[in-house]
Amino acid sequence: MTAVVNLDVPGPTISRHLYGHFAEHLGRCIYDGFYVGEDSALSNIGGIRTDLVQALRALDIPNLRWPGGCFADEYHWRDGIGPKESRPSMVNTHWGNVVENNHFGTHEFMQLCEMLGAEPYISGNVGSGTVQEMSEWVEYLTRSGDSPMSRLRKENGREQPWKVKFWGIGNETWGCGGNMRAEYFADLARQYATYCKNHDDNVLYRVASGARDDDYSWTETLMKSIGSLGGSPGPRDLYQATSFHYYTSAPTWENKGRATSFTDEEYDLTMAKAWRIDEIITGHSRVMDCYDPQARIGLVCDEWGTWWKAEKNTNPRFLFQQNTLRDALVASLHFDIFHRHARRLTMANIAQTVNVLQAMILTEGDRFLLTPTYHVFEMNKGHQDATLLPLHVIQDSARREADGLEFDAVSASASVKDGRVLVSATNLDLHDDARLRLDLRGGPWTLGEARILTAPAVRSHNTFDDPSAVSPQKFDGADRDGDALVVDVPAHSFVTVQLGLQP
Ligand code: AHR
Repeated sequence: MTAVVNLDVPGPTISRHLYGHFAEHLGRCIYDGFYVGEDSALSNIGGIRTDLVQALRALDIPNLRWPGGCFADEYHWRDGIGPKESRPSMVNTHWGNVVENNHFGTHEFMQLCEMLGAEPYISGNVGSGTVQEMSEWVEYLTRSGDSPMSRLRKENGREQPWKVKFWGIGNETWGCGGNMRAEYFADLARQYATYCKNHDDNVLYRVASGARDDDYSWTETLMKSIGSLGGSPGPRDLYQATSFHYYTSAPTWENKGRATSFTDEEYDLTMAKAWRIDEIITGHSRVMDCYDPQARIGLVCDEWGTWWKAEKNTNPRFLFQQNTLRDALVASLHFDIFHRHARRLTMANIAQTVNVLQAMILTEGDRFLLTPTYHVFEMNKGHQDATLLPLHVIQDSARREADGLEFDAVSASASVKDGRVLVSATNLDLHDDARLRLDLRGGPWTLGEARILTAPAVRSHNTFDDPSAVSPQKFDGADRDGDALVVDVPAHSFVTVQLGLQP
């Protein structure tokens, strides 16, 4: 495989927000995950587990989306403020009909963000809420001075307003968020956005709930509602982004396979489906280009990742799944694709951070483990806010095929920041190693540290008894050959290589 990288021809900035996360009131993500309560024997601050926070800080998480997901459109924020003992409880009808006591609410979430060093991304309730309710939540969080909501916030112990930039207007409004038609929601998005105000110097980045997968017509309806074909005079500044969700599942969405026991055919199908996000982002971007050629409106993929059958002996509505090397390779592939779309794609959020779907961390009592996916986020964090160095890998073997879908076995991306280049390369092939030759043009460079994430099998995973079975190792398969960087990427592995640019 070969590719050319022009070190002196920069592409767009890869927003750090492509490395965003998502924590929903679902299963054991918040309760018995991040949040164990102040009386827990586990080390905590305000009920939030400090060991998890410490582990996650190593990922430089840029933003955290909350409280859903489908839960967001059943959530009434006023139930989650004030003294815990007087907060009303509710039933989380979407995720297992469990009782939600609202002990983790706005203040606890903002504290979690502060502890993680992440920006909050709040999903407001359109499906069963009101414009007033959402407007007041923004005011409660972000307004200083004297106002009904800032007074209430102060009564609850928080004098200063918080900074909140990212604001979701609904979630999956085509489905669990209200089963709306695009035309109806497009009007609601304009209305809700109007009353989600910028208070003081807090400037919101409003994200209108967007399409499922490749529903380009949903995106077109949202774009049409704030702009015109041709893009002139530019979209109205009501919402600043539209979103979409895409999950990877095999063999089919209706008949999901298991996280750790899957056939080689299912593995290939997983990768073919993971690659589909490239085509889907391209499709949404093309539609957006017609209405907004300057890319003023962002595209946000605020839910992505693998979705398998829940682990045996767990509540199926809690979506608890193990995480293998296969999941890690799905993640590294997604990041290459996200990087390539950095001009339009402004944010992405993996679903979800702890104990749900493609998690970074799994917990069991006082124990926790870091998943293979966690390690991809850590190994790739140098791409955050770096400048893309566009590259196109020319494959020297035939494209792989699974169930009629074709895909490339090798993927790579590169970026530069502060004089350091980070190259990421993924070899999806189950059996064959790949030699990747990157012809680096445009200036002298030195070879730095290289790391690899791999394991004897793609089904390998970390357990509470063997938490480091899949973890990054030093890699000596990268070398220079004249001006070329040659990386021997073993079968089913993810590699990162750092280079230094000489002034
Ligand atoms: O992430 C789990 C669920 O997937 C979210 O609640 C919903 O938005 C999506 O369907």
